[in-house]
Amino acid sequence: VGYGLASPPAHAMIESLRGVGYSIETAIADLIDNSIAAAARNVWLKFEFDGPDSWISILDDGRGMDERDLRSAMTVGGRSPLDVRDPGDLGRFGMGLKTASFSQCRNLTVASRKSGGTRVTRRWDLDYIARPEINEWRLLTEPRAGSETRLSDLDDVAAGTMVLWEQIDRVTAGLSSDRRSRDAFLALVTRVERHVSMVFHRFLEGPSPRLKVHLNGSARIRGWDPFLTSSPATDISPLERIPSSGGIVELQGFVLPHRDQLSEEAYRDAGGRDGWTSQQGFYVYRNDRMLVAGGWLGLGEPRVWTREEPFKLARLAVNFPNTADADWEVDIRKSVARPPRTLRPRLTALADAVRTEARKVFAHRGSYGRRAPVADLTPAWTQTHVGGRSCYRVNRAHPAVTALASGLPNEAAAMENLLRVIEETVPVQRIWLDTVEQGEVQGAVADEPPPGLEAIAVALYRHLAGPTGLTPALARARLLSTDPFQNYPAAVERALAGLDEEIT
Ligand SMILES: Nc1ncnc2c1ncn2[C@@H]1O[C@H](COP(=O)(O)OP(=O)(O)O)[C@@H](O)[C@H]1O
Ligand SMILES: [Mg+2]
Repeated sequence: VGYGLASPPAHAMIESLRGVGYSIETAIADLIDNSIAAAARNVWLKFEFDGPDSWISILDDGRGMDERDLRSAMTVGGRSPLDVRDPGDLGRFGMGLKTASFSQCRNLTVASRKSGGTRVTRRWDLDYIARPEINEWRLLTEPRAGSETRLSDLDDVAAGTMVLWEQIDRVTAGLSSDRRSRDAFLALVTRVERHVSMVFHRFLEGPSPRLKVHLNGSARIRGWDPFLTSSPATDISPLERIPSSGGIVELQGFVLPHRDQLSEEAYRDAGGRDGWTSQQGFYVYRNDRMLVAGGWLGLGEPRVWTREEPFKLARLAVNFPNTADADWEVDIRKSVARPPRTLRPRLTALADAVRTEARKVFAHRGSYGRRAPVADLTPAWTQTHVGGRSCYRVNRAHPAVTALASGLPNEAAAMENLLRVIEETVPVQRIWLDTVEQGEVQGAVADEPPPGLEAIAVALYRHLAGPTGLTPALARARLLSTDPFQNYPAAVERALAGLDEEIT
């Protein structure tokens, strides 16, 4: 076949790559992806303001690269999107390091060292490449003159990689060396901090986080949890694991607490960068790294849902593995992900349920909002969150339990076994869906007591006033602050009327 070579000219190609559309925070997040993929436990971000000579560096203690690795890492498209990736790899197109960096700077230096190896350095200098007599992909092997010390922090880690951005023209555009420019630069740093705390929150959270990101030598960036999982007032649906062609997709719904149940500060913080209404909807994660922060993904029946105030407490988490990238149409900047057709019905159904519940909480000030909360309520069930999952336990101090235990002292072990079986098999998922589909929380807010409740009230009253030894008045008060009797005070009073003499 006849052909002629048509390689893209280096200069024009790089200038085009600069326009891929990164912001400083998404560009830095892309570099942190690489650090995570290289098994780093720590990342140190450094922002140095010096007017037009300001610079930014990112150091990690990951496994580092040797000369061959580094040359390939610096090559645009050095890895094919069709390559099979490690499960923990956050990379995608073999472009991130270059495109993210070029979007912000004209001088990209990467220095790296493997454990026991020597340091290797490579640099792209866009001005050098742009020279008419050059105009080819010349990868330089030395740092910029005078920049050596900026790489010296790499000596402090056993292995790792440092990415140095100099001549950050896109960052310093419009800035000079004055006070106002410095403030503008620091505002960018804050933006980066917020973004990192959001998109990597699953890595940054917990007592022993998978990743620590240090900012300018001091503060560690804390994770921002969109779901307020640490708040007991957050309503969490059971984690669903949905098999799909690209691997297991994890899905979970959250109804966040009403404003009344949060402190002023917690409420503001949970509103996130863009505020409560904008931050409703789906949070899409790939290998636990957040790609999309809110919005309804074009889902919704019969009309596509938009972000509206009444649904602002509704948030959902979807996590897919990197083997499902193609299904989700992940883009180069990793800021877009679209749910595959096969998953849309399930996502829509759960989102619909979460939205319905969220609107109720928003309108009713809490799911039990129709009645004032009872002080010192003895609950029948207790709920704890363990690692984002809910566990439900029967309250052993509930009078129905203590009544049985005192009546059958020899069956304590059998009773405990029974309770444990019940607790381990609560059909949480089914209940959650049924509740939401049927609209009302059954029992808790119905006006009429369920059948037989009055007889149970009488039996427990006898237990409280008899073996437990409470006075009739105290026993009655106890019962009225015991789940579920607090919901039906009138029925309880009716059932107990005329019993007092019988007991005393
Ligand atoms: N911080 C780092 N530590 C170790 N290796 C890195 C690091 N950054 C980049 N690399 C290597 O360079 C390659 C190219 O990175 P990049 O251009 O971001 O594309 P991708 O992440 O999609 O592979 C990575 O696949 C990895 O092998
Ligand atoms: Mg990458």
